[in-house]
Amino acid sequence: MMNKKILTTLSIITISQIWWWACVSADPQINLLNEGCSQYNATSLSNFYTNLNATFLDLKAQLLNGSKHFATAQQAKGSDPVYAMTQCRNYLSSADCLSCFAAAVSQIRNCSASNGARVVYDGCFLRYESSGFFDQTVATLPGNVGLCGNQTGSPATTFTAAAEELLMDLQVATPKINGFFAASKEVVSGSGNTTVYGVAQCAETTTVTGCQDCLKVAYTNVQSCLPDTDGRAVDAGCFLRYSATSFFPDNQTTNIKPFLEKGGNSRKKAIIIGVVVGGVGLILLVGVLIYFRLSRKPKTVRRGDILGATELQGPVNYKYKDLKSATANFSDANKLGEGGFGDVYKATLNNGKTVAVKKLAILQSDRAMTSFENEVKLISNVHHRNLIRLLGCCSKGPELLLIYEYMANNSLDKFLFGEKRGFLNWKQRNDIIVGTARGLAYLHEEFHVCIIHRDIKTSNILLDDGFQPRIADFGLARLLPEDQTHLSTRFAGTLGYTAPEYAIHGQLSEKVDTYSYGVVVLEIVSGQKSSEIKSDTMGEFLLEKAWKLYENGKHLELVDETLDPNEFDAEDVKKIVEIALMCTQSSPALRPTMSEIVVLLKSTGFWVNRPLTRPVFVDSGHKRVRVDTSTSTGSSSSNATASISQLSGR
Ligand SMILES: *[C@@H]1O[C@H](CO)[C@@H](O)[C@H](O)[C@H]1NC(C)=O
Ligand SMILES: *[C@@H]1O[C@H](CO)[C@@H](O)[C@H](O)[C@H]1NC(C)=O
Ligand SMILES: *[C@@H]1O[C@H](CO)[C@@H](O)[C@H](O)[C@H]1NC(C)=O
Ligand SMILES: *[C@@H]1O[C@H](CO)[C@@H](O)[C@H](O)[C@H]1NC(C)=O
Ligand SMILES: *[C@@H]1O[C@H](CO)[C@@H](O)[C@H](O)[C@H]1NC(C)=O
Ligand SMILES: *[C@@H]1O[C@H](CO)[C@@H](O)[C@H](O)[C@H]1NC(C)=O
Ligand SMILES: *[C@@H]1O[C@H](CO)[C@@H](O)[C@H](O)[C@H]1NC(C)=O
Repeated sequence: MMNKKILTTLSIITISQIWWWACVSADPQINLLNEGCSQYNATSLSNFYTNLNATFLDLKAQLLNGSKHFATAQQAKGSDPVYAMTQCRNYLSSADCLSCFAAAVSQIRNCSASNGARVVYDGCFLRYESSGFFDQTVATLPGNVGLCGNQTGSPATTFTAAAEELLMDLQVATPKINGFFAASKEVVSGSGNTTVYGVAQCAETTTVTGCQDCLKVAYTNVQSCLPDTDGRAVDAGCFLRYSATSFFPDNQTTNIKPFLEKGGNSRKKAIIIGVVVGGVGLILLVGVLIYFRLSRKPKTVRRGDILGATELQGPVNYKYKDLKSATANFSDANKLGEGGFGDVYKATLNNGKTVAVKKLAILQSDRAMTSFENEVKLISNVHHRNLIRLLGCCSKGPELLLIYEYMANNSLDKFLFGEKRGFLNWKQRNDIIVGTARGLAYLHEEFHVCIIHRDIKTSNILLDDGFQPRIADFGLARLLPEDQTHLSTRFAGTLGYTAPEYAIHGQLSEKVDTYSYGVVVLEIVSGQKSSEIKSDTMGEFLLEKAWKLYENGKHLELVDETLDPNEFDAEDVKKIVEIALMCTQSSPALRPTMSEIVVLLKSTGFWVNRPLTRPVFVDSGHKRVRVDTSTSTGSSSSNATASISQLSGR
């Protein structure tokens, strides 16, 4: 009697517990699919963690508000900004979404001080980066992957056909649906009651095209899982999943019919015909399938894949033999120029593509090789429309070679001072000024490692087919030993561009590039070389001349005489000259950052003048200091004196 009572009580408790679980039906779906940490740490940990915590709090607050399943947040106080994005699958309840997010936050903190990271679960994802990535016009990134289950759906052919149709429909419909999410299912014909379930989702900040492209890649990734019962595709901006087991509540199913193309019927017919033909040749097909399943390599998440989480991709390795023949044995006829780091050759590869090959003039010690490989990896991950792309390298040969994209229009100096002098109109010059600032701002502030160029000059600014600027040779200075980087043979020849604190004391900061940029801007406006003294200027260098004209309010006299005065607005020119002089002020702290310059250049109308301070090179006393340029290559060393007399006094 007694025992029975206890048993009954126990079973009541058990049943009520089951009921409780069923009612809450909590399943945040925290099955980990993909994670990654950037290999770069934040520079200031306290700034970083403050920013990181603030963005996570912000994301959580947004998810708590109503039924939001997507949120972005950013916090950029001090150094180490954090940009974060999270998204739950829309079928999750608000509570499950928050649980999934909480799990992701705890998991992503395992990346400790990494300045970028991602965690992808079945139920949600969380990602943060050190620069903005929300406008994902390109939602598919290298590292996208398909993850397959380990059981085969049956019967294989009809299961595959049903799953393919479902996935195809999701791929077509989802980009057209507001919110970029769809959940749907498809009954497997001839199988009793088997159904395939699927969802597709894109980040809400991507575009319709971005979503389409991403899901197209996802479809290919996930299709190769069939006829497995489960498949998932993970990418930076989208997610696609199917399963023979239901994984979302029935009432969350989307009616995707209205979003499918009119031609949907004929496709359905084709699939049915395919299935019938497949039935006839079933034995053959099963054999083929078994063959493919056996020969298919297991899919795993590889580390080092990028998927956006500031991880780096390796550069493409080229064969020395191929490059040698592509450059006609590095012949003089193919030589494009001689740069600070070695000669550059035009090369036509076997596939018909033209590239530029730089033969590096650096020693191949073991230590140099390690740093070469690391730096090349870093540089090959820099992508910006105003920076030359490094396509690959070759480190297995007598010389170290770097392979860059080829710019048919050559470098800016040719158009300012060379045979093509006078070719560039004001609009083109203005575009070059803005584009170069953008490229440098990216190198300094937006790439996950601050890259200081250290050798900005007109011969390092190449022009693409549309005369947009592309900065070359960035990152290479990092290959040089630290003591070889200032007032050495290489820089003396272009002292006209080099910031005084760097030339004399070797003090390196991104303001060194700001200075050189200012000099380049003056050259673009005036068509005069910074290191050249024109006969009409009483022995003044360009910078000195520009400063004096500015002091007397005669900015316009600096403008290149080959420019048509009707093409430009006097106020624009004044603004640009003043920005250039802002950049060349002697105190690095007074020079603006490159992103500030971009803002200044874009601002129209209202223009607040900061009082400018004199650049160092201005000196009426003409106490000139000799700087030896005898070992410099190529560049104009006709006038090897530079007036740096004010330096010692500061
Ligand atoms: C980043 O920081 C972690 C510990 O916080 C450390 O183990 C790791 O070596 C650091 N990585 C780099 C590249 O500095
Ligand atoms: C950020 O949050 C973590 C976890 O809540 C905490 O341990 C850490 O002290 C916080 N850091 C800052 C700078 O707020
Ligand atoms: C909550 O969402 C509504 C509408 O989406 C918005 O107007 C409101 O500002 C949000 N509140 C918070 C605290 O984010
Ligand atoms: C962090 O990593 C450790 C070791 O890899 C693991 O045991 C732990 O579960 C991770 N933390 C979270 C929250 O997943
Ligand atoms: C299939 O995967 C599940 C979890 O993913 C695992 O528990 C199970 O053991 C696997 N089965 C086989 C046959 O490998
Ligand atoms: C299919 O479902 C129906 C009811 O929904 C059921 O009667 C039938 O037994 C099921 N068939 C199989 C093969 O599971
Ligand atoms: C879906 O069904 C669940 C119960 O199974 C219910 O709690 C939820 O409100 C329903 N959602 C919608 C949108 O009808």
